[in-house]
Amino acid sequence: MTQPSIYQQVLDPAHRANPYPLYAELRKTPVTREDDGTYVVSTYKEIFALLHDPRVSSDPRNRPGVSGATAAPDQGQPELPLSFINHDPPDHDRLRELAMRPFGPPCTPGRIDGMRPWLADITTGLIDKFADHSRADIVEDFAYPLPVAAICELLGVPLEDQPRFHQWADALIETLDPATGPFEQRMRRAREVQAELGQYFSHLLDSRARQPGDDLISGLLTDHGPHAPMSRGDILATASLLLVAGHETTVNLITNGMLTLIRHPRVLDRLNHHPGLVITLVEELLRYEPPVQMRTNRTTVADINIGGTTIPKGSPLALMLAAGNRDPGRFADPDSFDPGRTDNAHLGFLGGIHYCFGAPLARTETQVALSELARRLVNPWLVADPPPYRPNPELRGPRHLLVEYDAVVPAKQKAGQAAFRGTAG
Ligand code: HEM
Repeated sequence: MTQPSIYQQVLDPAHRANPYPLYAELRKTPVTREDDGTYVVSTYKEIFALLHDPRVSSDPRNRPGVSGATAAPDQGQPELPLSFINHDPPDHDRLRELAMRPFGPPCTPGRIDGMRPWLADITTGLIDKFADHSRADIVEDFAYPLPVAAICELLGVPLEDQPRFHQWADALIETLDPATGPFEQRMRRAREVQAELGQYFSHLLDSRARQPGDDLISGLLTDHGPHAPMSRGDILATASLLLVAGHETTVNLITNGMLTLIRHPRVLDRLNHHPGLVITLVEELLRYEPPVQMRTNRTTVADINIGGTTIPKGSPLALMLAAGNRDPGRFADPDSFDPGRTDNAHLGFLGGIHYCFGAPLARTETQVALSELARRLVNPWLVADPPPYRPNPELRGPRHLLVEYDAVVPAKQKAGQAAFRGTAG
């Protein structure tokens, strides 16, 4: 039997808890070719260059043999157009700009910052419930409900519909895992689930069209700016994209954050006494334990010479963002978690034209979440280290993060009054 390649080992769930030694092996050859024709790129400079290269496409229709991926799903639902994450310029830029208008500066500068008090309230309520027990699952009891509530608030989705969103988002996220089947099959499954989501949002759109609110969907429907309004299909595709993109990624950043803090008790203590540290700390988490470890959705549309290799036109790429983030050619002491690091142009939100649209929201949520957990949990420790992980290599994060603690500081008590003990067990 042939030995699995390093990339195949990365995909193997057995390595999910600590893929970083494998990434170090991968970096020894910046660009490698897999037997199925995928080119795996693992060094910072090469990933960065490809993210800014117009000869690299995010459109699945550019992948040879993937025409079926864009066919209508078999379930009788109307087909949704591709969302802007799956488009190249000029369509990408036009749709992203339209989506940005009700979301952020310059047209709607206060939207995300204005959510801070609301996020703080939700966070307080979730942590208050921890006081009834001496153990919590940071994933189920905290990191999951917070981003889902935030994205529902943003989109104007009623909270009681959240469980349905959970199922759709899980199903879509599974289609990102290269281990669950060939690209074409996964794209087809993704389109089926998106069609179901589209049906849901279609009803919401009708009600917002009759009675617009202060939410993002109403903003898209009532926009009168240049290129506006977005077509109905594009609004549905954008709403589905935001739901999924803003979901498990943020869950994993908050969970990876708490895991890393408990593994670094001095940092947890510093954060507790100096809450301002949270700004650089969250950036360091995006470098050190990025929720999006790799992207496998890109295809070359011309031959590209890079890292001493010619990648032929029509090749699938696996951009190993987490490997680039630990590249000693770019970052000093890359395997150390340094919460005050300032030279930190990490790839956690990618780069180039597809740079994460929701980054301001993800940052705000995680800053609020980790500051409050650090402030209020007294002596948190891990019940299991490493925790159990979900199998997905692309969106990597713990399935559960069981934490025990001595007490929960009341919400109104000042910062710096919770102590720490660190990792046990
Ligand atoms: C910690 C949390 C998050 C991480 C690590 C993250 C990471 C990323 C990455 C790596 C991409 C690039 C994907 C690609 O082009 O292949 C991306 C794109 C995107 N993200 Fe995020 N994301 C996070 C949270 C969010 C949130 C909260 C939202 C929504 C409010 C969001 C919305 C988007 C959208 C719409 C895109 C597509 C951008 C485009 O194609 O121009 N993300 N994100």
